[in-house]
Amino acid sequence: MVGTKVDESAQGQAGPEQTQMHGDATVVPPRIEVAEDRRGTDEDFEAVPSQISVRGLNFFYGKEQALFDNEIEIKQHRVTAVIGPSGCGKSTHIRTYNRIFNLYRDQKAAGEIMMDGDNILSSQTDLLELRRKIGMIFQKPSPFPMTVFDNVAYGLRQHYKMNRAELTDRVEHCSAIDPVATAKIEDLVLELKSRYTIVLVTHNMQQAARVSDYTAFFFQGRIVEFGPTTQIFSNPAQKQTEEYITGRFG
Ligand SMILES: Nc1ncnc2c1ncn2[C@@H]1O[C@H](COP(=O)(O)OP(=O)(O)O)[C@@H](O)[C@H]1O
Ligand SMILES: [Mg+2]
Repeated sequence: MVGTKVDESAQGQAGPEQTQMHGDATVVPPRIEVAEDRRGTDEDFEAVPSQISVRGLNFFYGKEQALFDNEIEIKQHRVTAVIGPSGCGKSTHIRTYNRIFNLYRDQKAAGEIMMDGDNILSSQTDLLELRRKIGMIFQKPSPFPMTVFDNVAYGLRQHYKMNRAELTDRVEHCSAIDPVATAKIEDLVLELKSRYTIVLVTHNMQQAARVSDYTAFFFQGRIVEFGPTTQIFSNPAQKQTEEYITGRFG
């Protein structure tokens, strides 16, 4: 699984503007067009296996609680978008999946993050093995203190046996996507979907709508609403979700 944070500056194509009736209020929704092939739309949610099941997840920075009773099913080979205003807990939530927060002594998670029958949060978890399965891509690069080449090669060396020439080839291949990364990222996500399960944090509603099957709306450390992307963007159940996606706060 890849947890990706996509550059907020990646701008989406605006969809057609439509006016919809919500009860007796007329609202002009944002220019968000949900791609038609989103699988979350018509599949049987229960029938799709979960890669990760989060139950009763709470998170603390020292005494400050940042996540409250988060529950979510991350479906296999689907893209799940995590949206919500700044500071609502999106990063904190996805950082629990590979226990990266354990690098900081005062950060604690409690609850269940089930994957392959085990709780990721258990003290028995082999963190190296876990991080081999759950990778994270951050919005801002956080290189290790070594050369750029060695940073790019780091993962390859961990995963594969390669000689120097093969390694050089691969590193140069990777570097080629750099200048067009933001433009290509959505294609890449869709391409990776057949091999990985993807959780994507984004502030770009158009991007969330285009690329994801399921969407979770976070607010003040809680998951206010989770469901098929088509439903979240066209007919949200919660008023807070609607206010957020129509740009009234955030
Ligand atoms: N290192 C930290 N120490 C203390 N509080 C933090 C830290 N990182 C984040 N927080 C707090 O946790 C809450 C959620 O933050 P975060 O997960 O970064 O939100 P988001 O990614 O949605 O912007 C915020 O109230 C933020 O101030
Ligand atoms: Mg964040």
